[in-house]
Amino acid sequence: MRYYTNVSDLGDLQAALTEALEVKKHRYDYQHLGKNKTALLIFFNNSLRTRLSTQKAAQNLGMNTIVLDVNAGAWKLETERGVVMDGDKAEHLLEAIPVMGCYADIIGVRSFARFESKKDDYEEKILSQFIKYSGKPVFSMECATGHPLQAFADIITIEEHKEVKRPKVVMSWAPHPGRLPQAVPNSFAQFAVAAGYEVVITHPHGYELDPRFTAGATIEYDQMKAFEGADFVYGKNWSAFQDEFYGKNLEKDFPGQFNEDWRSWTIGARQMAVTNYAHFMHCLPVRRNMIVTDDVIEGPRSLVIPEAANREISAETVIKRMLEDLD
Ligand code: CP
Repeated sequence: MRYYTNVSDLGDLQAALTEALEVKKHRYDYQHLGKNKTALLIFFNNSLRTRLSTQKAAQNLGMNTIVLDVNAGAWKLETERGVVMDGDKAEHLLEAIPVMGCYADIIGVRSFARFESKKDDYEEKILSQFIKYSGKPVFSMECATGHPLQAFADIITIEEHKEVKRPKVVMSWAPHPGRLPQAVPNSFAQFAVAAGYEVVITHPHGYELDPRFTAGATIEYDQMKAFEGADFVYGKNWSAFQDEFYGKNLEKDFPGQFNEDWRSWTIGARQMAVTNYAHFMHCLPVRRNMIVTDDVIEGPRSLVIPEAANREISAETVIKRMLEDLD
């Protein structure tokens, strides 16, 4: 594997899941692959889980790891070509990327949606430049439109906990004080459909996701109806995708314009009561009592910690495949 940005990069998802479960059992058995190899992990945005789990995964594989927080210690980077660089940005991405490539065998990139241009975000302007100019294999550690390491970990977790062959998996929008990217819900929808689950996505009107990511899922605007009989509930906030409202928090940015009781979408005992004793999932970090109540996230069916633990496994499986295919 040369690049990992999307579920399709894994090829046969069932084979990838089988491999991941094998990696989980024997996570230190592949150290020969990473000997004298360096993983450079570049963060344009904050992280707890991705930073720790991806470093751990690379180290499990015998790799050296370098972590760069671009906004804390590196030169401020210009990303636009043609700009007269007389401001505060001292270096251009077009030099910085090939320089970074000199020190790495594999590069991981975290670069969230900026919400300045939907086109730039959905063309993955930063990630695609790393792919084009670094000369090295590149994987996404959450970029503008997807978080494939998280979604892979989520599907591993569902496979470990499902009690029926084809579970009903409901992804529900929930309120948040900020405006979050669509990366996690995009990838989760894509992976859950690819895994063959019955996938239902529920959200208020105005929060429709890019249909390229939700193809194969059922959209249900009635949250209680969506939750009926669910085996897994995946809570998540995301901002609006539609052109008119792109990147907006509809509750905060358009007060009174939508006829919606936003806070009723917080996932709690009322919604969980109509499920098939569903497991609760969330990628973390989570805003308690906005996205999910204390009782549900602390309850016996919560999988938020196993999901986070499986981030090490999804990352190790992906990096292992990249190491196996290095030139
Ligand atoms: N879920 C996730 O990616 O967590 P971090 O943002 O802390 O890395």
